[in-house]
Amino acid sequence: MGCGPTSELYGFIKSIYSRFPHVKLNFEGYDMNPNWERVQNITKDLLAKYGLNINFHYTDIFTDYVDVFHNKPSILVLNYVLSDIAKFKNKETKELFVSQLTHFIRSHSIRVILFNDIRYYGYKKYLDSGVQLMNLILENLSSDGLTTKSYYRYFSGDSYFGNEDWHPHKSNHLLFNNLQGNPYIANIEYCRSKQILTIIQ
Ligand SMILES: C[S@@+](CC[C@H](N)C(=O)[O-])C[C@H]1O[C@@H](n2cnc3c(N)ncnc32)[C@H](O)[C@@H]1O
Repeated sequence: MGCGPTSELYGFIKSIYSRFPHVKLNFEGYDMNPNWERVQNITKDLLAKYGLNINFHYTDIFTDYVDVFHNKPSILVLNYVLSDIAKFKNKETKELFVSQLTHFIRSHSIRVILFNDIRYYGYKKYLDSGVQLMNLILENLSSDGLTTKSYYRYFSGDSYFGNEDWHPHKSNHLLFNNLQGNPYIANIEYCRSKQILTIIQ
């Protein structure tokens, strides 16, 4: 959910299809902001040759989700969506969002959560970062009796993280070629996000 340019799909293709070329990926992208439609169509065209099933929805995932996976174990990708909530919503709305998301994860038997977001670690009491919201989701899942195992990763150059078991990636080099003439190149010269991969047992 939260799928604009859908960078996560490019990542899945790069990492999964290179090893398992016959895997059939089914991607359902939810983002209530229809402004991304043009860029999502570019993604659909570019990735058509891989034969994935890609659908985008501009509705609220919590009320309009259609479970095409039929509760089979699936991966929920939170790609830069939690920092968006952390930045633009008040504390009550953030807590409500986290509780809705926790309920969504449980009721649809999500087995893997992939969180990828900005490196800012933030403060638990303010819930002012994606990492803090993700940590609250994990706390809620655990309070609900679910057992989770999480893997925490960061890129070199990042010195802000808390007590979780953070490990550095081997390299912060980009895996994709840069687009010539991109005016925002200074923001994306190397990798600097944080990742949390959670397996729900
Ligand atoms: C910073 S963008 C990230 C886009 C995308 N994940 C990417 O990296 O290409 C965050 C997106 O989260 C979306 N978002 C915020 N709240 C949402 C919600 N409740 N449900 C779905 N999307 C939401 C916003 O509309 C925005 O497009």
